[in-house]
Amino acid sequence: MQIERSAVRAAELTNMILTFARRGRFEIKTADLNEIVLEVVQILERTTDRSIKIGHILSPKPCYVDIDSAKMEQAVMNICVNAVEAMPNGGGLTIKTEVSFYSFDGMEKKLPHQPADGEYVRLSVMDTGAGMDNETRQRIFDPFFTTKGESGGTGLGLAMAYGVVNEFNGHIEVESKPGIGTTFNCYLPLSKGHPEVKEGQDRDKPFEASKGKGETILLVDDESIIRELGRDVLEQLGYNVFVAEDGLAALHLYEKHRDKIDLVILDLIMPNLGGKEAFERLRQINPKVKVIISTGYAKDEILEPLLDNRADGFIKKPYKIQNMAQVVKSVINTDK
Ligand SMILES: Nc1ncnc2c1ncn2[C@@H]1O[C@H](COP(=O)(O)OP(=O)(O)OP(=O)(O)O)[C@@H](O)[C@H]1O
Ligand SMILES: [Mg+2]
Repeated sequence: MQIERSAVRAAELTNMILTFARRGRFEIKTADLNEIVLEVVQILERTTDRSIKIGHILSPKPCYVDIDSAKMEQAVMNICVNAVEAMPNGGGLTIKTEVSFYSFDGMEKKLPHQPADGEYVRLSVMDTGAGMDNETRQRIFDPFFTTKGESGGTGLGLAMAYGVVNEFNGHIEVESKPGIGTTFNCYLPLSKGHPEVKEGQDRDKPFEASKGKGETILLVDDESIIRELGRDVLEQLGYNVFVAEDGLAALHLYEKHRDKIDLVILDLIMPNLGGKEAFERLRQINPKVKVIISTGYAKDEILEPLLDNRADGFIKKPYKIQNMAQVVKSVINTDK
């Protein structure tokens, strides 16, 4: 059960991260990747120990790519932070950009699918750090995969970078030798346009109709990342959000703010009072409370009675922003 549950979570989270990378605020513009590299280098120079030598070799040609600059900068930053962390005793970190025609023949093994040949901007992050063995290398993009022990990472840095680069139709590839170092190569299609706003922005238009009007939602989930991503999605949709990490915390919050809370989104499986019990108790406090059940599992025996009985709606995790928008809106607008 433990393994199955964590597998379900990993799948949920990967999808959440991908969804997150695609969410409404996402704004695709043509930008010069060289400028992003310069920003990242500046931040690294200010924050990294002197024992790490930071260099950059930029393509003399502008590296125009169609991206959301803020997200791409975060992705590059995540890759660089790992490089720094792989060099506890100092070393060299080099970021390089090149514009070239690339053919991906023979690379199928490293990538989930073979990209089309064409003109790409290649951004490389090279370090002289600890490197990785093959077993580690194969898992680094998995959400929650970390070798940094209890003190360290969440294991989400590269999952995020992967999601973001994919969203821009790019690819990431890794080469590494234990004791020698690691190179991450990100390939992004060279933009055919000039710096200007691209149609990618229109993606959030479909959500306009299903946006909220400042209603307040209590989101209950024991997984902090899901809480935070959920909060972010709901806030973008125009709602105020309270969060609680289990059934008990949810009841306390509900008792305190029941006049303000228009809707509760409830995870079913949680420690300290699971969703089902929390649901019953919420009903006792306010028989008219509106509740949407959220779960990573398919509608099954646990769920059917709740739905038939009285739950107002059902959202399947991983949340899809559009689905979330519609279900929440329709439940909030229903009179009880
Ligand atoms: N440049 C690198 N050199 C050696 N190992 C690396 C490098 N980059 C990533 N890794 C390995 O990949 C794992 C996953 O990286 P990721 O950034 O996703 O998570 P993390 O760094 O462990 O945690 P977080 O990014 O949340 O702090 C790392 O724990 C490390 O084992
Ligand atoms: Mg990291």
